[in-house]
Amino acid sequence: MPPQTPATSGTTADSLLEVRDLHTRYSVRGSFFDRLKGRESGSVHAVDGVTLDLRHGEVLGLVGESGSGKTTLGRTLLGLVEASSGSIRLEGEELTGRSEAEMRPLRRRMQIVFQDPHASLNPAMTVGALVADPLRFHKLASGREELRARASEALERVGLAPASEYLDKYPADLSGGQKQRAVLARAIILGPDVLVADEPVSMLDMSVRAKILELMLELKDELGLTYIYITHDLATAKFFCDRIAIMYLGRIVELGPAADIYEHPQHPYTAALLKAIPEPDPRRAVARDLPRGEVPDAVVPPLGCPFHPRCPRAFEVCGWESRDLRTLLEERWTKLDQDAYERERALVGELDDLDVAESEAFLPAADGGSGEEAAGVLEAMRADAPADPFWSGVASTSVEPDGVRIGFHTPREPRDLEVGRSVVNCHLHDPGAIELAERLRRGEPEPEPPDAGADAG
Ligand SMILES: Nc1ncnc2c1ncn2[C@@H]1O[C@H](COP(=O)(O)OP(=O)(O)OP(=O)(O)O)[C@@H](O)[C@H]1O
Ligand code: SF4
Ligand SMILES: [Mg+2]
Repeated sequence: MPPQTPATSGTTADSLLEVRDLHTRYSVRGSFFDRLKGRESGSVHAVDGVTLDLRHGEVLGLVGESGSGKTTLGRTLLGLVEASSGSIRLEGEELTGRSEAEMRPLRRRMQIVFQDPHASLNPAMTVGALVADPLRFHKLASGREELRARASEALERVGLAPASEYLDKYPADLSGGQKQRAVLARAIILGPDVLVADEPVSMLDMSVRAKILELMLELKDELGLTYIYITHDLATAKFFCDRIAIMYLGRIVELGPAADIYEHPQHPYTAALLKAIPEPDPRRAVARDLPRGEVPDAVVPPLGCPFHPRCPRAFEVCGWESRDLRTLLEERWTKLDQDAYERERALVGELDDLDVAESEAFLPAADGGSGEEAAGVLEAMRADAPADPFWSGVASTSVEPDGVRIGFHTPREPRDLEVGRSVVNCHLHDPGAIELAERLRRGEPEPEPPDAGADAG
């Protein structure tokens, strides 16, 4: 993908961490099914061009559905996963491309708290040994007495007091909330600057979630910490975060002050996520249903704007492609009654060839059928759902003897744009994209796009 315009909004001299056009890819070996489709192997673009600044003392929320890349982004920032490209600077010092040994002193400054406190604590070690372990690992304290004293101090800070009651216990003796407190004690014992908290309360009982979050805020103020708070739960993020970054398929689609995100969401995905929060009291929030539809394949992401297949406001330039035709057709078929479905299904051939990321589609006629029949199916689709955004993307149709060919407007990737105090990645805020769409609607020819042929592989 071409680099996105850096988000300048929110860039201040006060930045603790500066992230620029960061990419993290995981190699994946194609399954048997993938190989059948000619997709030997590829890479998951888990983080796909992220630019952000983390300011001293703030809580920055990373919010998005499962698979949007939150954990990968958090782990890449800490050097636990290698960045494929891009830059991460901690107070000006570049973190990418360092060896393990070079990374070690910096790692003390950035700690992570995982979702599952049970899995984060070695059951065979005492709480005291676990909490003091980072000191021993980094050779910052030695001797039983010193380690115990430092562990006691950390335990008391997180509310496990008096520490003498906890030092010699094992994780199994603690409740879920107490375990997460112990995990926090271990995370703060090295005096870090940044804490990445990856869904730190989602596995805890409702009754203790708010207490742990309150403890985290107290620790932040007392110890001068800065947080990256990862969650899929926008409701909790509202009261916990200063700013929020909304992630979708590895990208930040909107980043702004929490209040602005809730009161004036600018990206259609943010708006959809917010609609899915019914609970007025955020402290009682539980995981919410997110907008309908599946998150697309991150190996071959959608062309143009990655949200376009689910976006209710998508328009001409948003990246329409062959796979969208298949989705629309299959959605339609689930709504037809059995007879109507069977009649229509008999008019078109195999749909697998539609499963490509191309801004042209060929809807094949059934064996022995005609292109006119396939075109008839397309017309029926349009007549039954004329308002579907998909049709805005159709630039041309031509009937051929064995099917109907559909050309889409050239896909364009949205740019990061400043909107109020936020940065938003959506064509709706781009006057150039709006003007182009108007010209296309009037039937004017397509100009050559600056980023033509968006790389989808
Ligand atoms: N080790 C891995 N190897 C290959 N792909 C991976 C690996 N870890 C994550 N992925 C893929 O990378 C993408 C981002 O995953 P990630 O775990 O970062 O998302 P997430 O937002 O943290 O999701 P969740 O809310 O479920 O924790 C997903 O498509 C996921 O399947
Ligand atoms: S660019 Fe904006 S309008 Fe277009 S699909 Fe993406 S989110 Fe929707
Ligand atoms: Mg995760």
